Amino acid sequence: MKIWLIALVIVSLVGCSDYNDKTTTMQGGKELYENYCAGCHRSRGTGQFLIGVPRIKDTELSLSEIADVIRRQHKDERQMPIFSQLTVPQSYSIASYIKNTLRYK
Ligand code: HEC
Repeated sequence: MKIWLIALVIVSLVGCSDYNDKTTTMQGGKELYENYCAGCHRSRGTGQFLIGVPRIKDTELSLSEIADVIRRQHKDERQMPIFSQLTVPQSYSIASYIKNTLRYK
């Protein structure tokens, strides 16, 4: 009887942490975007025309191109910093937040 109880607890703990991992990843893109990008590109990705920050909510760039822009590739580094402290998966979370969520806001 006790063994079953312990097994049940373990199974439910594993189940929980799995679930949490998924939610964290899904929220990650939004939080990272708000943290690192929204200051310039605005929460809705509309950019700021007057100071030359492009509207990124309907960017033509692919996920991997956006991830590249975030971590290394820039037309003009004086304007947009390179976020080399972000990991590749983090840069993809942000990119997919832009392409899959901001685009439709
Ligand atoms: C300090 C202001 C600033 C911050 C912070 C910033 N950007 Fe930018 N971003 C710019 C400017 C200015 C440009 C246009 C010039 C350039 O490409 O460097 C740009 C260009 C871009 C482009 C290219 C758009 C296109 O269609 O060519 C993407 C994509 C982009 N930013 C995404 C991001 C993401 C994602 C973040 C957060 C990790 C971010 N930016 C943070 C100012 C910023």
